[in-house]
Amino acid sequence: MHNTKTSIKIQILIATILLTLGHSSGIDIPLLGPTPLVTDIIIFADQRLAVVLPIIQNFKSIITSDPFNVTATWTGRDVCAYRGFYCESPPDNQSATAVASIDFNGFRLAAPTLDGFLDRLPDLALFHANSNDFGGAISAGAASLPYLYELDVSNNRLSGPFPEAVLGMSGLVFLDLRFNALSGAVPPQLFGRGLDALFINNYLLATRLPDNPGPTSIVYLTLSNNRIFGPIPRSISRTFSNVSEILLLNNLLSGCLPYEIGFLTEAAVIDLGGNRLTGPMGWSVGCLRSLEVLNLAGNQLYGQVPERGFGREEELHSGIPGAALGRGVRGVFRVAKVLPVHVDVRAYPVPPAAALCGLRL
Ligand SMILES: *[C@@H]1O[C@H](CO)[C@@H](O)[C@H](O)[C@H]1NC(C)=O
Ligand SMILES: *[C@@H]1O[C@H](CO)[C@@H](O)[C@H](O)[C@H]1NC(C)=O
Ligand SMILES: *[C@@H]1O[C@H](CO)[C@@H](O)[C@H](O)[C@H]1NC(C)=O
Repeated sequence: MHNTKTSIKIQILIATILLTLGHSSGIDIPLLGPTPLVTDIIIFADQRLAVVLPIIQNFKSIITSDPFNVTATWTGRDVCAYRGFYCESPPDNQSATAVASIDFNGFRLAAPTLDGFLDRLPDLALFHANSNDFGGAISAGAASLPYLYELDVSNNRLSGPFPEAVLGMSGLVFLDLRFNALSGAVPPQLFGRGLDALFINNYLLATRLPDNPGPTSIVYLTLSNNRIFGPIPRSISRTFSNVSEILLLNNLLSGCLPYEIGFLTEAAVIDLGGNRLTGPMGWSVGCLRSLEVLNLAGNQLYGQVPERGFGREEELHSGIPGAALGRGVRGVFRVAKVLPVHVDVRAYPVPPAAALCGLRL
């Protein structure tokens, strides 16, 4: 790590020296142009930086708003010094320098599209552009970015259908498309793609939860504030066996809470609030041994939250001291050691926790 950084610094230093020499000897290199000139190889720290310079400059030219004056730093040939751009050695050549990550989070830049920019930075590993004003769609070309593993374009104005390009990004582990104007269905293949984190809320998504798409590696799943309808599939525990946080609040999910929800043994946060779930609460939630927050408010569920069965013997409370959990299920339930709740009236006989939690599909 240290060596790599040192070598990048040295390369940048060389670039700066060469840049100075270039100026004093009167060599004039055009900043814009479709093909980098041969002389750029001498001027730039790395040929890879020469290739992306016109792409970045072209993107700069379509930016319509820049309230923090970020693009004022996007001048000259030292792309790695531009605000929001970070360089590193790419995996395929440890002695090369490339634009490895972009962090535009909160810059509030406006541009009609990311097309011709995001899809043309071949060494990009991270693209974080939360809270900007980027429109258009993510073009198909972005699918071939070989190193991209984090894509956060949340809180922009992306529109059109689900960007199919993300299905082609073979290394993607983090996808955040929240708060855009995307619509339509999310392809079920997305769930089996090796993502660790998938955030698609406040989307105009109208679809069912995929039934049995196969096991996923998803740890953080947010599909809140959509129009996801239909039942929670019984396969949920197999599909999301590694999930730590699953947020499905404010959708149109209906039917009963599947018993298998209790097998989400890694889940710390389950939020199913504001749906149309009906029927009994189900004792299997007592098997959720990692549970910290369970929100079932805003549904038509009834019954009790089991008072026993949590793996680490935490107690359950509703957040309201002394509130009984017997009649209807409301509020966000937290597992805590401080406020035990004694449920006096049992709607259902409680099966022995061991027998219940030992059941597998
Ligand atoms: C933006 O930065 C440039 C260069 O530093 C400066 O000349 C200009 O006045 C700045 N504009 C605003 C709006 O801050
Ligand atoms: C690796 O990058 C360095 C610096 O750009 C370059 O000189 C060298 O030719 C590259 N090696 C290969 C195998 O492409
Ligand atoms: C779940 O996590 C474990 C431990 O990190 C990992 O070995 C396993 O492959 C993951 N499951 C899936 C389906 O990715």
